[in-house]
Amino acid sequence: MENIESVSLRIAELRRRIERAAKLYYENDAPEISDFEYDALFEELRQLEAKYPELDDPSSPTHKVGGRALEKFEKVTHPVKMGSLSDVFSEEELSAFVQKSIDVLLENGVPAEEIVFSVEPKIDGLSVSLTYERGVLTLGATRGDGTVGENVTENIRTIAGIPHRLSEPLDLCVRGEVYMPREVFYELNREKEDAGEKTFANPRNAAAGSLRRLDAAECAAAKLDIFVFNYQTGSLYEDGHAPETHAETIGRIAELGFHAIRIQKLARTPDEVVEAVREIGGMRVGLPYDIDGAVVKINVLDQRTILGENPSTPKWAAAFKYPPEQKETKLLSIEVNVGRTGVLTPLALLEPVQLAGTTVSRATLHNIDIIRARDIRIGDTVIVQKAGDIIPEIIGSVPAKRDGTETEFRFPERCPSCGEVLIYDKDNEEDGADGGILRCENPACPAQLERRIIHFASRGAMNIDGLGPALVRLLIDEGYIRDAADLYTLDVEKVAELPRMGKKSAENLKNALEASKTRGPAKLLWALGIRHTGEAASEGVIAKVRSIDALFDAKPEELSEIEDIGEVTSETIAAYFRLPETRTLIDKLKEAGVVTALPETDAAASDTDEKFAGMTFVLTGTLTTMTRTEATDLIKRHGGKASGSVSKKTTYVVAGEAAGSKLTKANELGVTVISEEDLLKMANG
Ligand code: IVH
Repeated sequence: MENIESVSLRIAELRRRIERAAKLYYENDAPEISDFEYDALFEELRQLEAKYPELDDPSSPTHKVGGRALEKFEKVTHPVKMGSLSDVFSEEELSAFVQKSIDVLLENGVPAEEIVFSVEPKIDGLSVSLTYERGVLTLGATRGDGTVGENVTENIRTIAGIPHRLSEPLDLCVRGEVYMPREVFYELNREKEDAGEKTFANPRNAAAGSLRRLDAAECAAAKLDIFVFNYQTGSLYEDGHAPETHAETIGRIAELGFHAIRIQKLARTPDEVVEAVREIGGMRVGLPYDIDGAVVKINVLDQRTILGENPSTPKWAAAFKYPPEQKETKLLSIEVNVGRTGVLTPLALLEPVQLAGTTVSRATLHNIDIIRARDIRIGDTVIVQKAGDIIPEIIGSVPAKRDGTETEFRFPERCPSCGEVLIYDKDNEEDGADGGILRCENPACPAQLERRIIHFASRGAMNIDGLGPALVRLLIDEGYIRDAADLYTLDVEKVAELPRMGKKSAENLKNALEASKTRGPAKLLWALGIRHTGEAASEGVIAKVRSIDALFDAKPEELSEIEDIGEVTSETIAAYFRLPETRTLIDKLKEAGVVTALPETDAAASDTDEKFAGMTFVLTGTLTTMTRTEATDLIKRHGGKASGSVSKKTTYVVAGEAAGSKLTKANELGVTVISEEDLLKMANG
């Protein structure tokens, strides 16, 4: 039934979905599909490309490792390429890998008794390389595309389990997996939820997000840790002794003060390897961190050369991926929530069940089509699965267990919040991998308003302290706010009379609102919650157009010229600014005194020049007269470069208030430190 056209279409579809998923995962730390689904798509694509070599393409995601390096950190080339591992998904495949390795080594004259496999947990975090020069940590880098990664040294220094200085003056490069302990992850998400911010899907994304914070203090707060799992290059011993086995390198790595990976077993046969992998699988739930598999490696380092490498994976190692944990439970009901952009998401309420170490009573159903496609009925026995992500999903029902009392779920035709007739969008590209979505398009819908205001006030947006979800709901219910601008004209006395408020809290809220007025146009644009328009896109747009007002005249073509702004985003922004209610909202915000443009002084200097050509600036601490975006913009407009970390190549470190480790580093390296005022003077004169 397979014809070449349909295979070609399927391949294109798989590549598109994998690329989208990889971008969300690696670059935005916000995955949309589970790891298991990702692996399945990847495997299907790999097999199709192998079967139809004429359809293979060097730019296919199967020929790349992970994500690209982000722009904000300095890029670094790894001393040794940071490859990935080939995956195996069953014990049969695993045994075949072990047997094949044994056969090749025997053919090459290796005595049977010297063939040993190390079996260890596969930590679910992100890969970093650590470089020491004469025993001093000089570089910590993310994997990036395997060849070029990001210099995150400042953040790496905040991680437990990574010595800043070794007990011996070695030149050494090792590699490990940075992770966030599960408890820390729960705590962080609880805080985010309280602040009305978007939570992380799983500890790995939280670790990746934290390791890429531009401010090392924020990374330190994330309490990350590491397991070092590989000796990359350099010397492990002062006398130049060359290690012979992986187990020896790991022992030595631990001796040098790193948190080293724990080798579960040194195994000799396929059966012994499988047994060790099962043992690790059995320990999974009890571990305080996430593992997503087990890694099997040839122990004797010389033998690895015999087995060799594929383009991006070694032939001497393989990763066994555990299947996601699944359990059966009852589907009690389905709740429908209206999101900030009006999209309705079904949420399954379940009879609580223990799954992968936590009690599960809610699961996402992604979108309406899934309920139909998976034939899920209220009262059904359903299979829930946790696959890497913390939010479990329902993968299907068990029709054999029905007793006839189950009922089909009827999606509402009208918005549960405002009663508006819902629109069905069959081919939507957002808010979930596949399937259509239902959307309420009433801009005055209270549920949407509530979500929009929560987002507007959230820490990453206008950062209005004390304005949490409960208070937002109350203000809407009382009819005090109909849009975000109404927040700024709230009557303190009336607010003070609300339940659990009082005079003090109302005053505090007023002050927080006042402070939020000067967050600047980039934060404001992000706070408006326009679809497809994230934080980075908002910053990019404002750096170019400089004010919110300019967006009323901006053409989508102009916006899509901005780096990282695609057609969809530019169209959406332009459409948003064509709406009459947007004009009203922005006018109201301006009237209330909310800053909607970059400062005049800066604008006057928009005569770009090359004063800062060849100079690299690093910003640290809190700036008082401008935001970081504005300062970065200023530097760039004068031909300079803004970097996230201090190195010998840094020309100036601009230190604001409460500057931390970057300032220390600048002083250590003898880099000139200037004030915000100095920067402005240099730019203007
Ligand atoms: S060995 C050249 N060992 O898994 C091969 N990797 O899917 C070096 N990982 O990029 C990898 N735990 O980030 C190895 N015990 C372990 C690991 C491990 C986690 C990660 C690593 C790698 C990815 C491959």
